[in-house]
Amino acid sequence: MCGIVGYIGPKNSLPILLEGLRRLEYRGYDSAGVALIHDGKLEVHKKAGKVADLVASMKGTHASAQLGIGHTRWATHGEPNDVNAHPHWDCKHEIAIIHNGIIENYVALKIKLQKDGHTIRTVTDTEILVHLIEEMYKRSHDLFTAVRLALLEVEGAYGILVISTKEPDRIIAARKGSPLVIGIGDDESLVASDAAALVDHTRQVIYLEDGQVACLTADSVTIKTIHDQEIIKQVEEITFDLEQIEKGGYEHFMLKEIHEQPTSILNSMRGRLLLQEGTAKLGGLEPVMDKLLAAKRFIITACGTSWHAALAGKYMIEQLTGIPVEVDYASEFRYRNPVVQPGDVVFVISQSGETADTLAALREAQSKGATVLGIVNVVGSTIARATDAGVFIHAGPEIGVASTKAFTSQLSVLALISLLLARHRGMSKEQGITIARDLQSVPEKIEKVLTQIDQIKYIAEEFKHAQNFIYLGRGINFPTALEGALKLKEISYIHAEGYPAAEMKHGPIALIDENMPVVFIVPKDAIYDKVLSNIQEVRARKGRIIAIANEDDTEIGNLSDFVVRVPRTLSYFGPIVNSIPLQLLAYYMAVARGCNVDQPRNLAKSVTVE
Ligand code: M6R
Repeated sequence: MCGIVGYIGPKNSLPILLEGLRRLEYRGYDSAGVALIHDGKLEVHKKAGKVADLVASMKGTHASAQLGIGHTRWATHGEPNDVNAHPHWDCKHEIAIIHNGIIENYVALKIKLQKDGHTIRTVTDTEILVHLIEEMYKRSHDLFTAVRLALLEVEGAYGILVISTKEPDRIIAARKGSPLVIGIGDDESLVASDAAALVDHTRQVIYLEDGQVACLTADSVTIKTIHDQEIIKQVEEITFDLEQIEKGGYEHFMLKEIHEQPTSILNSMRGRLLLQEGTAKLGGLEPVMDKLLAAKRFIITACGTSWHAALAGKYMIEQLTGIPVEVDYASEFRYRNPVVQPGDVVFVISQSGETADTLAALREAQSKGATVLGIVNVVGSTIARATDAGVFIHAGPEIGVASTKAFTSQLSVLALISLLLARHRGMSKEQGITIARDLQSVPEKIEKVLTQIDQIKYIAEEFKHAQNFIYLGRGINFPTALEGALKLKEISYIHAEGYPAAEMKHGPIALIDENMPVVFIVPKDAIYDKVLSNIQEVRARKGRIIAIANEDDTEIGNLSDFVVRVPRTLSYFGPIVNSIPLQLLAYYMAVARGCNVDQPRNLAKSVTVE
């Protein structure tokens, strides 16, 4: 996620902002910028790339200001370039804003503001907000009020800082869905998206809550709700160390990212899942909607975890739309002279957007005349730019090498695409609403799975010396089994295989004895009984059974050695929920074995070689 830092006080703010931004670098970002108020003028410096690039670009400038805000941007709307980098400013170059989050109704606001005479210079959602604040300032002549009034018109998520040359003694901060913490120093105030940027200056903090707006001067902090009610907040003391803060208090980035999934999935669906209409709205696909609707088949290509998401996507799309889907490893697709017919639509899935094999598959498909669409996390990445259109998954930066939150966000975007296509192909509104409601409940269900950690730790302790694991699932949970096995292999170095449960008897069953742990993904769906038979086959050979089963399953306890309970979902979305305990199992196994979880041996986060 993007990083935010702001300072007001007697010191020169620039070095404080730059150091704060460096402290936030671990979050991942693609551009950086600062806005300062100096001699009554707004001074903005911003640059694509790293904080070091920003510093280099500022050489020769002697900015010295006692009020400033700084930002590291992780692009969501618009490429990561100098222009789209934050801060953004209003028409008169008096008000500056930095923003984390997504303004969902920015298109409607933009049209209105343009009609009112505002000149919009970038394609970002953030710039719209600063023009809206400018408009509200005309009415209220008070920055605190103007920000509040503007936020009343905004849908979406935000953590923002706003400054103005008209009121150079204050920073206005507001949050909804994106964290902000205020630091109280000696005659100075700071504010940041993460306490990591504050701890060098103060340990006295106030955590802003959703729906609150704060006005910071050097020696005061006033907090109101966006509806103008004053709030009295406790000052708290930060007791943890820097290393802990950067990981949000988690021991590893992977664990932090596993826990982020209720939010990252919500972000992937934000403004896109239309509950009332029982469908989805995906702006990135609108230009190619005619091609999508005319397609006789889809091809999805990807690598690793993204390939597992593709395979689950095949089940979703085929079951909901009836359109056939082929799934191919990108590394195979690129060299096997694939049959691509006129009218075929090819999806490429990539978290990083830089995977060499996926990029080559994309080019191969394009050279054969296919429409190629991306499902990508990193905005501005090579794959995102090379595709004809697509959907960003908005999972936020994924730092742990083992992909977790990107996987579940890829699945939720595939679910949205399936729902959208299904509605266009005759699915009734009622059925669409049922599906949309279930999809919307997924983040809440994941929260419930995350309460099972003690049970998962216990299982990990029990099996930490195992040398092999088998993962079995059927239907759409076959890809879940593959993904569970991959996670375990990657970070704990235990040999693990994923299979369709019924395939076991065609070979892998020879491996089953009292030393073999077998993980079954066994939700109460249409093939539940079939999977129970497969469990019996393992039991008969004394295999040790770990079941991922629904909360209301009363049979499974008698058939398994260990059970992790997961809430029920419609089968299409099962992998999103069922993969969470498998991520946690892999994580705790790796920790129990003393492995380097975030940087496992031999692996890179982004595989840019063949
Ligand atoms: O960035 P991509 O999604 O294109 O990466 C594809 C694979 O390299 C990646 O998913 C890899 O398998 C991960 N380490 C899985 O945890």
